[in-house]
Amino acid sequence: MTILVTGGAGYIGSHVVQMLIERGHHVVVFDNLIAGFREAVHPQAQFVQGDLLNPVEVNTLFEQYAFEGIMHFASHIQVGESMQKPFKYLRDNTNGMLNLLEAAANHDVKRFILSSTAALFGNPQKMPIDEQEARDPGSVYGETKYIAERLLRWMDEIYGMKYCALRYFNACGAHPDGHIGEAHNPETHLIPIVLQVALGQRDHVTIYGDDYDTPDGTNIRDYVHVQDLAQAHILALEALKDGKSRAYNLGNGQGYSVKEVIEACRAVTGHPIPTKVGERRAGDLPVLVADSTRIKQELGWEPQYDDLKQIVATAWKWHQSHPNGYNK
Ligand code: UFG
Repeated sequence: MTILVTGGAGYIGSHVVQMLIERGHHVVVFDNLIAGFREAVHPQAQFVQGDLLNPVEVNTLFEQYAFEGIMHFASHIQVGESMQKPFKYLRDNTNGMLNLLEAAANHDVKRFILSSTAALFGNPQKMPIDEQEARDPGSVYGETKYIAERLLRWMDEIYGMKYCALRYFNACGAHPDGHIGEAHNPETHLIPIVLQVALGQRDHVTIYGDDYDTPDGTNIRDYVHVQDLAQAHILALEALKDGKSRAYNLGNGQGYSVKEVIEACRAVTGHPIPTKVGERRAGDLPVLVADSTRIKQELGWEPQYDDLKQIVATAWKWHQSHPNGYNK
């Protein structure tokens, strides 16, 4: 199939692009390279530099290629920043999605896979979180993904566009051969920051609050390997052939606290990794753990990485071989 991957030069997108190509798909990456890296794009993918906020560029793209499916990764992704710059998130994430959907509807694209998020669940009544949980975002970032899911519902109803919303919990790790991995500038995510301390690029990690209602007082997250997320996209693309829209929560089902993550990084790297305790970060929830039974049962998703140290080891391989990310 010819698949459009927006944000295919980004962290999760680049891993999915590689897997799509390995499965024989023709991939077109559309990315503005504000957060993504040209070097992260697989050499066999077609690369188009462009911006979803520019409808002319988006329409030109759809005139040029006949897409059979879309995987939409391109968006702002930081929970914390979204609480400081709400309009940046609300405007860009929503307008980008709308421009993409309008072009997709006009060109009769029938399969759409959305990068959605655990940040939809701001007030979970049950842990782990399954798909029955009310969507009630705890941050502006989460709200933008909630809007995106709602928009897809109307695309299905009006245009018959079938969608799968994949709600990632905390994506982490890197391709096992270490040639692509997580790189953000500036980095805000926990595991890369901790590994930057191990590389000597920072002197310490700041723990954002140790007074949460959790066993060690720090936030608990469900860390799911980027290759396992990529596998879920491949399965979702196939599954949409049955003409049914759906949503899945994607995680390992096991929560680790910030302190446990740091401890795992100490074990993998052999570095002491000093820490300081700082203020809580706005928009952070104490616990987010996924119940992924539905995608396992319906699509046969089988995560290959369930051990935190194994996950960190893949990230460490990437960070050691690319201490400055894709910037030479
Ligand atoms: N944290 C620290 N110190 C740091 C960085 C992070 O203590 O320097 C903590 C955060 O407070 C949080 C945990 O580590 O409790 C994980 O933080 P990340 O920034 O790595 O990830 P988030 O949980 O904030 O968000 C990520 C993605 C979102 C996605 C969300 C879903 O960035 O896009 O997971 O859970 F929506």
